[in-house]
Amino acid sequence: MAPTSHFYTNNGAPQNGAVVPAGAGNVPPQHSCLLDPNEFRRQGHQVIDFIADYYARMDDYPVHPSVNPGFLRHQLPANAPSRPESDAFGTALRDVRDLILPGMTHWQSARHFAHFPASSSTVGALGEALTAGINVVPFTWAASPAATELEMVVVDWLGKALHLPESLMFCGGGGGTLLGTTCEAILCAIVAARDRKLADIGSGRIGDLVVYCSDQTHFAFRKAAHIAGIHRDNCREIATYRDDMFALSPTELQAAMQADVDAGLVPLFLCATVGTTQTTPVDPIRELCAVAATHGVWVHVDAAYAGSALVCPEFRHLIDGAEAVDSFSMNAHKWLLANNDCCVLWVKKPSLLIAALGTEQEYILKDAAAEGHDVVDYKDWSVTLTRRFRALKLWLMLRCYGVEGLRDHIRGHVDMAVSFEGMVKADPRFEVMATRQFALVCFRLRAPEELGGPKAANDLNRRLLEEVNATGSGPYMSSANVGGIYMLRCAIGSTLTEEQHVRAAWKVVQDRAASLLRKMESINAVA
Ligand SMILES: Cc1ncc(COP(=O)(O)O)c(C=O)c1O
Repeated sequence: MAPTSHFYTNNGAPQNGAVVPAGAGNVPPQHSCLLDPNEFRRQGHQVIDFIADYYARMDDYPVHPSVNPGFLRHQLPANAPSRPESDAFGTALRDVRDLILPGMTHWQSARHFAHFPASSSTVGALGEALTAGINVVPFTWAASPAATELEMVVVDWLGKALHLPESLMFCGGGGGTLLGTTCEAILCAIVAARDRKLADIGSGRIGDLVVYCSDQTHFAFRKAAHIAGIHRDNCREIATYRDDMFALSPTELQAAMQADVDAGLVPLFLCATVGTTQTTPVDPIRELCAVAATHGVWVHVDAAYAGSALVCPEFRHLIDGAEAVDSFSMNAHKWLLANNDCCVLWVKKPSLLIAALGTEQEYILKDAAAEGHDVVDYKDWSVTLTRRFRALKLWLMLRCYGVEGLRDHIRGHVDMAVSFEGMVKADPRFEVMATRQFALVCFRLRAPEELGGPKAANDLNRRLLEEVNATGSGPYMSSANVGGIYMLRCAIGSTLTEEQHVRAAWKVVQDRAASLLRKMESINAVA
């Protein structure tokens, strides 16, 4: 959708040239209006209509915009207006429609197959609206008792729905909290593990601590380890292989840990992944926990994407042995209809989190009602003091869709991925490159023999992806590079995606591949 009108020039004056005298029609906001219920109702209706129209017209947008850096900055004034123009809210909404939306990647598009989804639902979006409207800061129980208790309830609800071991839930002696991202969750877990270990071996040995992951683990882990003070050289990335479906090998982990012990270092932390980012393999949790246990290592499971699939009992076997893990996290905002952001972290021993992250300050108000009770003060479970009331959205979503509704949602995407995978397999020019576990299909075009070696095959597939993504009304996909092999990723997960979109996407891939192969044949014929 092309921008239809611009409301500002670069110097911030209205474009129609009218000079608006200060104060005339530009009424500065009065405090009494800033939360005026009638104004809120009026603007709120505008916003709801706006979003509903956006969903309805989603298909009109190319998934990914073709814009150049600076395109938006050059259209907006350099300074904020000193006084609002009349109907500033309506005008700003029009700018969102005409200037901002055309420059967005439309993650909710039915044709967005590039990244793991930013899962959305009407209830998720409205839950966010409720949270923003109520706007509390539940850093302690006293700071908003119902918010803390709802969070405690909802993390147990979700843990049970995902078939997690009870030992990770409040009902089993553990507990959970809602954070923004997986990186934060892993950071909290590493810091808890670090402090426990340093209490044993002495804080002077922080430089000896070693953390482990595979070469498929998300970089969020290395980032968290670095922030937690783990020496960059002490992060072991264990190589994975196609024969093992790119899962972390317990034997290799044991060898790496033993080598570190022999070198006088101290194994600290293992990050296992259920559903890695590039191709979604699942690390063998039971066996990895057994190795880690012999070295007193904390095991965290990062199930950022695939954790949502655990709502379906048919995926439960993927976390067999999870009873032995120390912590587990997943992003309900990735695939479970809880709009951004909503990462859930569960730990077996909350006291270790609190020991590492807890703070005692006089000015943090206590509530007499809490005296003598073991209340949860969530500020002590994470990095920040100020936090969002995310529980409301998650609770609303679980109530309105129910566990069965979430299963239908996940299974719908998995079925579409099975169907896409079937189409790839049925075309001999293509091959599926990694075993499909969830709703991600990794595939590539087989390079014709005369084309040459692996580099040429990679280049061919790079070009294929470029051409697919350049098809304005077509799908938007991404790539993985695993073991030196470049492949395309088709991640099905947008709430709006239906079978017809998957079929249309495959048709675009086939058409672009046919045209690429034709071009190459004619170049070869000339040469
Ligand atoms: C397996 C995995 N872990 C971690 C992340 C990063 O998550 P976050 O952005 O919430 O830190 C991703 C993102 O896609 C992921 O796929």
